[in-house]
Amino acid sequence: MKVLVTGGAGFIGRHTVQRLVDQGDEVVVVDTGLAGNPRKMDESVRGYAVDIVSEELERIFAEERPEAVIHLAAQTSVRRSLHNPTGDAETNILGTIRLLQQCVRYEVRRIVFASSAAVYGNPEHLPIEESHATEPLSFYGVSKRVSEMYIQSFNERYGLNYSILRYANVYGIRERRTGEDGVLTAFVERLMAGLPLEVYGDGLQTRDFVYVKDVAEANVLALRCTGSQVLNVSSGRGISLLEALGMLKEMSGRNVQPQFRPAQAGDIEQSVLDNGKARDVLWWEPRYSLYDGLLEMMEFESEARKNPMLVERTSYSKTSAI
Ligand SMILES: NC(=O)c1ccc[n+]([C@@H]2O[C@H](COP(=O)([O-])OP(=O)(O)OC[C@H]3O[C@@H](n4cnc5c(N)ncnc54)[C@H](O)[C@@H]3O)[C@@H](O)[C@H]2O)c1
Repeated sequence: MKVLVTGGAGFIGRHTVQRLVDQGDEVVVVDTGLAGNPRKMDESVRGYAVDIVSEELERIFAEERPEAVIHLAAQTSVRRSLHNPTGDAETNILGTIRLLQQCVRYEVRRIVFASSAAVYGNPEHLPIEESHATEPLSFYGVSKRVSEMYIQSFNERYGLNYSILRYANVYGIRERRTGEDGVLTAFVERLMAGLPLEVYGDGLQTRDFVYVKDVAEANVLALRCTGSQVLNVSSGRGISLLEALGMLKEMSGRNVQPQFRPAQAGDIEQSVLDNGKARDVLWWEPRYSLYDGLLEMMEFESEARKNPMLVERTSYSKTSAI
């Protein structure tokens, strides 16, 4: 199948593209992050350093004629969305609408959309299932929810099938950390660098951490689904930051003590997403326990410290797509 992946050079995008290439799909990536870095693309993947909001998007659809789209490109920082709501809305909402228009014009069969647990806001109960009320707390969450609604409207009006996947907290190797994002990546990096680990709040807040390779697998499985659906993609387990820290201490043999910082405004205390529907519909299940995922991250980080070029070389090698 020919698949166009927006945001394919990002954290989840790279793993998703890798998975598609491994199973023999033809992949086209649209990602502004490719600008000025042609080495980022393997020759089996065609990359366009194009903004999804721009007019140029149509040219790519006209040339490539993808059969399906995985839409990952987004402004992904909750904090940035609060400081710059128009920039957030432009990429996340307008970008999604532009993409949907091209999907309809060029008769794309299906779109898989990266939504987020942020659409739910404060949970009324746990675990959160897909029918839970959506009351996002951030502009980022609003932009994801509004995009979902546009996707559903395009489905009603033009019959474009969709899988809206609401990811929990995605973690894993090759995450590029920006500010508040990627707490586990921050833990692993700081641990390996011998730096103190910072915990905001009391560390008892729980998160549903799902490994990036499991998310990539869900994206790829969703391409072959029929009909349209909204699915949580999560581990289905709430783990406190202190529990995660305990695992890292155990596997590293380092007795690090966390440095507690004041809780950040707007942080949700508990978060667990019910993944039963994704299991039923996609025949998917998370294969990585948190322990396995952290172990892979520690090993990767340790290799990358010995040989910083390894990360780039591995990512851009011929067999690993991007
Ligand atoms: N990482 C998580 O925990 C998480 C959780 C829930 C949802 N999501 C969603 O999953 C998707 C992928 O997230 P990620 O963690 O890989 O983020 P990322 O920032 O690593 O990747 C996003 C990619 O989109 C590209 N991009 C941004 N704006 C663009 C534009 N206007 N045109 C073209 N490309 C553009 C960036 O260059 C980047 O490579 C996003 O939609 C995000 O909102 C992520």
